Amino acid sequence: MSALHSEIPLEKDERGRDIVLSAKDVTVAFGSKVVLDKLNLDIYRGEILGFVGASGAGKSVLLRTVLRLLPRRSGKIEILGEDYDKLDEQDRNRLDMRLGVLFQQGALFSSLTVRENIQVPMREYLDLPQDMMDELALMKIRMVGLAADAADKYPSELSGGMIKRAALARALALDPDLVFLDEPTSGLDPIGAAEFDELIAKLRDTLGLTVYMVTHDLDSLFSVCDRIAVLGQKRVLVEGTVEDMLACDDPWVQAYFKGKRARSIVPRDDIREHTDDNGAGAHSREK
Ligand SMILES: Nc1ncnc2c1ncn2[C@@H]1O[C@H](COP(=O)(O)OP(=O)(O)OP(=O)(O)O)[C@@H](O)[C@H]1O
Ligand SMILES: [Mg+2]
Repeated sequence: MSALHSEIPLEKDERGRDIVLSAKDVTVAFGSKVVLDKLNLDIYRGEILGFVGASGAGKSVLLRTVLRLLPRRSGKIEILGEDYDKLDEQDRNRLDMRLGVLFQQGALFSSLTVRENIQVPMREYLDLPQDMMDELALMKIRMVGLAADAADKYPSELSGGMIKRAALARALALDPDLVFLDEPTSGLDPIGAAEFDELIAKLRDTLGLTVYMVTHDLDSLFSVCDRIAVLGQKRVLVEGTVEDMLACDDPWVQAYFKGKRARSIVPRDDIREHTDDNGAGAHSREK
């Protein structure tokens, strides 16, 4: 737990939910190409937010902007009650330590073992003796459901699912409050993906994490996410429950949540309620 942890009382929304991340009127552009245009989004403490949108819509760009890996043209972002722009170097580091990230690409350093990968953030931010870092790394490895002998393996020796778990262990290395996951279940088989979702839900429950999860995976959205936000037309088009998605008349949202793939997952009654097409889809989990 960082020194900042209890210092800043979080702002609440009108329903009394603690806002752990707030993006207000955020605009991001590359040259003349505007990717995000005055986007607004709040994330509440303890929730798993599923962030969805067409490929190329700007989901990863938003994530990178929030993490200050990309500059924004305008707008304001507050994380855990803090505005990076107003912090000095030391407080920025303390805030960074409270965030864990699993990137869409390059989840792990290929030249480092799992143990060494998990210790990268520890080395960057903490000054701990090696044996303590080894113990902590092992704890994280167990926490994400990997066997202890995964510690000495290199990423090339791991399956896709094991890599995702190891990357999650690294995201959890500093006991963050808020975790960003960019497509954590992509490339996993349906069972592996479902297990990963369960793991995320369990970690949220036991560690009190708040999870921001970019995903294309309808099963994840329906089974593990408390709330869904859809990125489209350079902003958050709609946010809310699965019900809210089904009731939204945006064509992309309709196609996504009521399309063929969705029909095998959304409770049949819900679809009937919102469409007159009740054909059954044959597909199960998206790969
Ligand atoms: N560093 C960059 N420089 C220029 N353009 C960029 C850069 N990063 C992203 N883009 C562009 O921004 C747009 C949004 O990209 P982004 O990676 O955020 O999409 P995405 O919603 O994450 O898609 P996917 O679901 O395929 O991961 C794309 O048109 C992409 O080409
Ligand atoms: Mg992306």
